Amino acid sequence: MNKDGVFKCPVCKKMLVRNGEIMKCESNHSFDVSSANYVNLAMNQSGKTHGDDAFMVNARRNFLSGGYYEKLRKEICLAVENAGGITVLDAGCGEGYYTFALGGIAGTTIYGIDVSKKAVMRAGKLCKGDSFGTFCVGSVYSMPYADNSFDVIVNIFSPLACDEYKRVLRSGGRLIMAVPNPEHLIQLKRAVYDEIKIKEESDDTLCGFEMINKKRVNYTFTPKDTKAIEDLFAMTPYYYTTPAEKRSRIMNSGIFDITADFSVITYKIIK
Ligand SMILES: C[S@@+](CC[C@H](N)C(=O)[O-])C[C@H]1O[C@@H](n2cnc3c(N)ncnc32)[C@H](O)[C@@H]1O
Ligand SMILES: [Zn+2]
Repeated sequence: MNKDGVFKCPVCKKMLVRNGEIMKCESNHSFDVSSANYVNLAMNQSGKTHGDDAFMVNARRNFLSGGYYEKLRKEICLAVENAGGITVLDAGCGEGYYTFALGGIAGTTIYGIDVSKKAVMRAGKLCKGDSFGTFCVGSVYSMPYADNSFDVIVNIFSPLACDEYKRVLRSGGRLIMAVPNPEHLIQLKRAVYDEIKIKEESDDTLCGFEMINKKRVNYTFTPKDTKAIEDLFAMTPYYYTTPAEKRSRIMNSGIFDITADFSVITYKIIK
C-alpha cells in the first residue's frame, strides 16, 4: 500500500487521496495536511478541547524527555519489531515520545492518531521523514482509516477501542499494549491518598484477541527535581482531583524514589 493510502474520508467514508498538501475524496471533501505532518480528520470541530490539553501535553513532554520511561520505550520497540509488521499505528499517540522511537524500526511506516490536536501537532512535528505516515487528529472510536490497513496497533496508556482495532487490523495482525501494574507510581499514590488499596492484577483477556506474549518492566527511578515529580503527577488522573493545597505540599516534600511498573502485552487478532 502507498504511504498515506490508509486514510478514508470522515464525512463520506470514501478513500482519501493525497495530492501535495491536500487529502481529497471522490466527493470532493478535502483536508489540509499541515507542514507539521498531520491532518485534522476529527468530525467534531467545535473548538472544544478534547483529550489531553496543552498543560497535560507539556507535562508529558517535559517528564518523558527526562528519560525515566526509556526502558519501557525500548521494550515497546522490541515488541513491535518482533511482531514483524510493516504498517504500524500508534493509537492515542499523545505527543509522540514512543511513536518517534518506533520510527527507528527498519522497514516500517508508523502512523499516529490522537483526539488531542495539541498532542498531534507535537507528535507530527517530531515524527517526520520516510519512516512516518501522516499523523491525524481523530478519535480511536471512529478511526479515519480503511479496513485492514495495519499490521500492528500500539496502545500505550490510551483508551481501548477493540472493535475499531479489529476493523483496521489485517488478518494475523498484532495489538501491543502497555499497561500499568498495581505497584506503578505507588509512592506518588501514597503521598496523595491517606489510604490506598492496591488493585488486583487486571485480567489480560481481550475479546477477539489471543495473548501471545507478556513482558513486565519494573524498576525504580529518582526524579531529578520536584518539577519532574509535578510533571509526572500531572500525567495521572488523580492530579486533577487532588486539592491544590495538597498538591503543593507534595511538591514541597522533596524528591523521592518512584517505582515504574508496566506490562507490555502482545496480542494476535483472531481474524
Ligand atoms: C495517557 S495519554 C497517553 C499518550 C501516549 N500514548 C503516551 O503514553 O505518551 C492518553 C492519550 O489518549 C488520548 N485520547 C483520549 N481519548 C481519545 C480518543 N477517543 N481517541 C484518541 N485519543 C484519545 C489523549 O489525548 C492522550 O494523548
Ligand atoms: Zn468524502
